[in-house]
Amino acid sequence: MWIYPDCVAHRGGGKLAPENTIAGLRCALAHGYRAVEFDVMLARDGVPVVMHDPYLGRTVAGTGNVFDYDAAELVTMDAGRWFGAQFAGETVPLFSQFVEFCKANAIWMNVEIKPAPGFEEATGTVVAGLTRALFGLEIAQDDPARVPLLSSFSTAALGAARAAAPDLPRALLLERIAPGWEAQARALDVVAIHTSERHLDAQQAREVKAAGFGLFCYTVNDAARARTLRAWGVDSFCTDRLDLIPPDFR
Ligand code: G3P
Ligand code: MG
Repeated sequence: MWIYPDCVAHRGGGKLAPENTIAGLRCALAHGYRAVEFDVMLARDGVPVVMHDPYLGRTVAGTGNVFDYDAAELVTMDAGRWFGAQFAGETVPLFSQFVEFCKANAIWMNVEIKPAPGFEEATGTVVAGLTRALFGLEIAQDDPARVPLLSSFSTAALGAARAAAPDLPRALLLERIAPGWEAQARALDVVAIHTSERHLDAQQAREVKAAGFGLFCYTVNDAARARTLRAWGVDSFCTDRLDLIPPDFR
C-alpha cells in the first residue's frame, strides 16, 4: 500500500531551479508540492551532503570527487550559479539542513542514497542512521506517512540501511524491471519499486502491484504520461517539470 504523495519534485525543484538546493525546495513549495526526492552521499569526513554527481564540475565548480572534500568545505561551494546568475550563492546543503527545511515546511522526503563507488555500505549506514535519529519522534508516534522513504540503486546500501535502521521504509531503484526483481525486493524487505518510466510497461506494473509493492516512476514530465502511468496502477512519480503536472496529482 502506498501512503505517500502521488507526485514528488525530482532533485528538489526539478529543472526549474538548481537541483538539490534549498532554492529547489522553495521552488517545489511555490508550485504547490509537498513532497521531494533528492540525492545524498558522503563527504570525506562521513557527513552526508545533498548532491547527485559524485564529482565536482557540473553543478559545483571545481574538480575531484565529493569524497575528496570535508562537508565544511562543500557547504561553502556554490551549487546555484551553473543554473542561473540569480541562483548564485546557493550552496551545497548538508542532508541535515535539507531535513530541517522539509520538516519546517511539512515536505515529505524520498531520500535517494547515492553512494560513490566503494562507499555503498558506509553511505547506507550513515544516511539511514541519521534519518532514524532525525525522525525519532515520528517513528515513535507511529506516523509512517511523515517518515522519509529511503531508496537506492545500490543493494549494498539498502542492506546496510536496513541493518542500521530496520524500522525505516526502503525502496529498490531499478532502471528496468527484469526477471528476478521480486526475489531481490523480498530479500531486501523493501516496500516499493522505483523504476524508470521509459522502460515500464502495463504488464510489469500489474505484476509489481499484484506482488504487493508500491510502484513509483522517475522522471515523468508531462500530464499525458502521468495519466497513463496512473491508469496502469503506478502509485506515484517524480517530475522535473513541476509546472506541467496537473494539480490533481499533488
Ligand atoms: O530516485 C529517482 C531518480 O532520482 C533516480 O535517478 O539519477 O535522477 O538520481 P537520478
Ligand atoms: Mg535521485
